Amino acid sequence: MASPFVPKQAIAFDGALLKELQGDISDKIAMSLLKDLDLSDMPPSSVIHDNGCGYGAVTMAVMASDPPKDVQIHATDVNPIFMAELKTTLTKNPTWPVKTDTMDACALTFPDNTFDLSMTTFVLAGLPDAVGALSHIRRTLKPGGVGVAAVWREIPWHAALVRAHRQTRGTDEPLAPFLVMPNYKKAEVARDAEAAGWGLKNENEVEWTEKAEWVILGADLKRWVTIGWSFFAKPGGEEGWRQRDEDRWDEAVDAVVEELRQGPWHKVEEGVHKIRMVADVAIMRKRG
Ligand SMILES: C[S@@+](CC[C@H](N)C(=O)[O-])C[C@H]1O[C@@H](n2cnc3c(N)ncnc32)[C@H](O)[C@@H]1O
Repeated sequence: MASPFVPKQAIAFDGALLKELQGDISDKIAMSLLKDLDLSDMPPSSVIHDNGCGYGAVTMAVMASDPPKDVQIHATDVNPIFMAELKTTLTKNPTWPVKTDTMDACALTFPDNTFDLSMTTFVLAGLPDAVGALSHIRRTLKPGGVGVAAVWREIPWHAALVRAHRQTRGTDEPLAPFLVMPNYKKAEVARDAEAAGWGLKNENEVEWTEKAEWVILGADLKRWVTIGWSFFAKPGGEEGWRQRDEDRWDEAVDAVVEELRQGPWHKVEEGVHKIRMVADVAIMRKRG
């Protein structure tokens, strides 16, 4: 069978590129959340879940904080490509107390009452069963344990990618699967957390906080957009990329670059492009 067509400009995706695409935004938000939670207050031998860990932003933030003595971290994700990036980090840090596993957040296999802290950052919006995932977070937390679920309030670059899709592929062409962003935000987390049993027996189990940070896109905005277009704009269906995507690649990328430059949430500092993103974060305390 002939290999599928891939535009010559497309960058082959791996965990390192996910990191470049995300900038260090997840790391900054994880650090800031852990600072608020004050890990030094947690008992020795606490067990922490990095749920939907990706390249391990939460795991790295825990290790960079002041983790409790003899802490154990379980990092799980369904995508082995992203896990590979975390495994590389772990190879470089062989003393870190981290176990990795391929596991679906909607069907966690950990026993009940396993974790003191369960962090699910920027994962829920992409899940087919967020209620299931929130139930598993509750089930696997020890009584008194804390679950943290973060979702983006806005994805500022999303509209620019959709416009470039329409411009270069036409308005009738279905959106590339990764461009179909589910409208899953604070209200949806609140609704699904309740459906998953949070706050059912005890009120005030769920509190909210917000975190705003600048995503570092790097000095070369076009490179960042090229990575983004390679990842998010890959068409779905059997056909996948087509010749017309290669022919109009530069037009699509240039349109996104231009729109990002002009957005109110974009700035350049010392030659580095940055975009401001805001997250809503549910802090869920399992009370009994
Ligand atoms: C945007 S990344 C966030 C990663 C990390 N939590 C962070 O804050 O950087 C979303 C992650 O969710 C993972 N994911 C998607 N569906 C999942 C599922 N059903 N179970 C577990 N992880 C899932 C993806 O593979 C990806 O690593």
